[in-house]
Amino acid sequence: MDVTPDYDFQGATFDLKVPEDREILRFILSQALYGEATGVYCGKSLYAAGSLEAARFYVRQAKQELAHLQLFADIFRALEMKPLPAHWVIRLLSSHNNYYPLKVLMEHAIGEGMVLDIFKDILLQTLPDDDARVPLIKKKLRVVCMEEQEHVAWGEKETKRLLAEKPWLATPYYGLLELQLSVLPALVRAFEKRVGKHPVLKHLPGFLEHVRKRVWAQGRQLGFVPEKRPGLLGRLWAMGYGAALFVRSQFARSQSRLEKIYIAELGLDGPRGGSSGPSSSASDDDDDDAAHAVNGEASSHAAPGSPPSRASA
Ligand SMILES: [Fe+2]
Ligand SMILES: [Fe+2]
Repeated sequence: MDVTPDYDFQGATFDLKVPEDREILRFILSQALYGEATGVYCGKSLYAAGSLEAARFYVRQAKQELAHLQLFADIFRALEMKPLPAHWVIRLLSSHNNYYPLKVLMEHAIGEGMVLDIFKDILLQTLPDDDARVPLIKKKLRVVCMEEQEHVAWGEKETKRLLAEKPWLATPYYGLLELQLSVLPALVRAFEKRVGKHPVLKHLPGFLEHVRKRVWAQGRQLGFVPEKRPGLLGRLWAMGYGAALFVRSQFARSQSRLEKIYIAELGLDGPRGGSSGPSSSASDDDDDDAAHAVNGEASSHAAPGSPPSRASA
C-alpha cells in the first residue's frame, strides 16, 4: 500500500529543539493518542457484526488500534513529552456510536480517513529527519498508515453496502459530513495567530482545504454527497436529520447478530449441513432503524440534502 502524502508541506518541518515547535507537536500527538485510545472500542462492533468477515475484521482492527496506542505512547517517551487532554473537537468526532451505520461512516470511513490525513500528510512530512529519534518513529508510523488505510477501506465498503440497503441514510450521512467539516476549523484556531509565521503552520489553511475537498470527494464517491451542494434549507434539513440520528445513536442499544446468523455464516445451513454458501453481510446493523424513531422518514429515498415533503424534524 502507498503512503505517499497527498498534501505537500514543501519541506517544512518542526524543530524538536524549539519549545514552541515541541508544544505544537505535543498538541497534535495528544489528539492522535486519544484517537487511538477510542479506536480500540471498534472491538465493540463485534456485537453488531453481521458476518464472520466483519467479526474477523473488528477483532483484527482492535488489536491493531491497541498496538497504535502503544506506539504513540512510545513516541511520547522517545520525544520526552507528556500528553495533553484531547481537544473537544477530537472528543466529539471520536465519541462512540452504538448505531452501526453511523459508526461505520463517522468513525471508519470519515474519521479514520482524517486520522490518516494527519499521520500521512502532517507527521510523516513535518517530523525532522535530522533528529536521530525520527527515522524509527516514521518507520512505525508508515505501518500505522497502512493499517489505517485498511480501516478506511473497510468503512467505505460497509458504508456503500448500508447505503444500498437503506438509501434513506444518504440524507443524514450528508448532514453529518457537513457538520463534521464545520467543526474542523475549531481545531486549528489555537494556532491562528502563529499561522503566518511558522513554516509548518502557514500551510494549515491549505491543508484544511485539502482535507475538506478530499472528504467531499470521498462522500461523493460513496454516493451520499450530491453533485451540487444543496441550498441553505437543504443543508439545514440534512444537518438536523444527521444530528437527530447522532443524538438518538448515543442512546441506542446495539443489537447482537452473530448468535442469530452463525449457522449460515459457517455454511452449515445447506442440506445435511452442507454449505449453501455463507450469507452476505447484510442485516448487521440495527434493524430497529434509528430514523423511525427520529422522524419517521426511514423509507424516504430523497436525495441527500433534499428537504422533506412534510415537516418532520
Ligand atoms: Fe489507529
Ligand atoms: Fe484505525
